[in-house]
Amino acid sequence: MDDDTELVATRPADEWWRSAVIYQIYPRSFADSDGDGIGDLAGVTARLDSLADLGIDAIWLSPFYRSPQNDAGYDVADYRDIDPLFGTLDDFDTMLHKAHELELRVIVDLVPNHSSDDHVWFKEALAAAPGSAERARYIFRDGRGPGGDLPPNNWESVFGGDAWTRVTEADGTPGQWYLHLFDSSQPDLDWSNRWVHEQFIDVLRFWLDRGVDGFRVDVAHGMVKAEGLPDWTPAEGAGSMGGAGGVSLSPGLESEAITQPDTPPYWAQDGVHAIFREWRSVLDEYEGDRVLCAEAWVDPLAKLALWVRSDEMDQAFNFTYLETPWSAPAIRKVVDDSIAAFSSVGAPSTWVLSNHDVVRHASRLALTAPNPQGAGVGPRSAGQPIPELGLRRARAATTLMLALPGSAYLYQGEELGLPEVVDLPDEAREDPTFRRTGGEKYGRDGCRVPIPWESDAPAYGFSPTGASWLPQPGEWSELARDAQAGVPGSTLELYRAALAERVASGLGTGALSWLGGFGDSVVAFVNAGVTVIANVGEIPVELPIGEVLLSSEALDGATLPPDTTVWLRTE
Ligand code: NOJ
Repeated sequence: MDDDTELVATRPADEWWRSAVIYQIYPRSFADSDGDGIGDLAGVTARLDSLADLGIDAIWLSPFYRSPQNDAGYDVADYRDIDPLFGTLDDFDTMLHKAHELELRVIVDLVPNHSSDDHVWFKEALAAAPGSAERARYIFRDGRGPGGDLPPNNWESVFGGDAWTRVTEADGTPGQWYLHLFDSSQPDLDWSNRWVHEQFIDVLRFWLDRGVDGFRVDVAHGMVKAEGLPDWTPAEGAGSMGGAGGVSLSPGLESEAITQPDTPPYWAQDGVHAIFREWRSVLDEYEGDRVLCAEAWVDPLAKLALWVRSDEMDQAFNFTYLETPWSAPAIRKVVDDSIAAFSSVGAPSTWVLSNHDVVRHASRLALTAPNPQGAGVGPRSAGQPIPELGLRRARAATTLMLALPGSAYLYQGEELGLPEVVDLPDEAREDPTFRRTGGEKYGRDGCRVPIPWESDAPAYGFSPTGASWLPQPGEWSELARDAQAGVPGSTLELYRAALAERVASGLGTGALSWLGGFGDSVVAFVNAGVTVIANVGEIPVELPIGEVLLSSEALDGATLPPDTTVWLRTE
């Protein structure tokens, strides 16, 4: 693996997002100011100083819009207002203002594939007749079979069950069916309708005018469906959101990525690109570098790169990286493929290990059975994670990730080393996946448990009353932020040190060259003059002489223990 080729992940341009570290806030679980057990915008504002202190560049907030909360806010009933659970537009403005004062950019979530069934657009569509302009906002079709009793095609919802629901028409008769790739309360909008485009241009302007720095675009690979809505059967074990899926993340348990020769008729259709170009031109009217980041589970990376051509989005989450097993050859390959794919279109690669839809990487990296995205882990799951091993690997994985050139996304709580909460009682679970699969899939609640701030406070400081919409584990005191702050070797201090050194050394904008000679189980490279060595294997590795800038675990002399990453200055 000796290779002198430099892999340049960023083109020479100075937009802030090319190398930014962007921290995802999941508002309902971040900080609750009013004590109802659900986080809110005033809570975010109150805790922003800690994020500035961590050393991140920007925050991305998952949805806080008006919503019945059937999918934790990804079911939007009004794109231009805040749900009372989270506060008011004034609270949003206060939060934005404070973030900007702290030099943190703010990215909000745009959910254009579907609205809530509680949105006035959908209510009007239901009240109107088949064939009306109102129905044409969504994907209504007549059913198949005698009396139209069967759904229009065989598509399944990402969350389980049919992707179609039949409505009752105004005269009380069983009527048309509407498409919902997710929950039945999330009807898909019809992006072949110009009216839909115009609504979302207005929504973009609404938030841009308020001063947001960009948008994370939900399901940016699903908005356009293939002509005729043909039947489709996904491969066994495929990830529910598209992409390769089907991987597990412990060495030795890697399963083949699931790929199918054709593109599913509801993912990654070419028509999506025209929408992004339209949005790009809207963002370009505004001052500053406003960013568009695609949530697109598209495989392979070379295809995902089409989402970030210079007149489309700026970034796309690198889920191929997130789903890479803890294996040195696999990590080297995904880094190579990522940088090659994204740089071919002049975009930076992004890197991400956790978010609100996947098992937290402090558990995922030590699962002992395959676990496709969306399945989640619960008390009855096979292959329970091994906590100490998971945390150790997670710290090594993050230390490796933050040394890669490009932009990195962090998910709230990972800087505390939070594990997935596996033992949530069934009755506490809210993810529609759990309900729609009859409990067969646990879904994503385990990574959404409210985060701990103070070890001795009610709800660990998440909420003043001790209320918490999902129960927090009894043993989180030692993971609370105040218990880790200033403690050498804590996960929080590791993140803080890594973020500071990343900036000091220019790692985010560097160019990477692989280093050979350490054996198959090691990932080693030089970026921006820093030598980065990750021991992904089981045998200690001899380190070259150099100044240790950062290490994910304490070092024993000049050897690098297993599941440890080090940053060295060797000259
Ligand atoms: C992706 C979001 O990240 C996820 O949480 C949500 O359930 C689906 N899109 C549907 O909006």
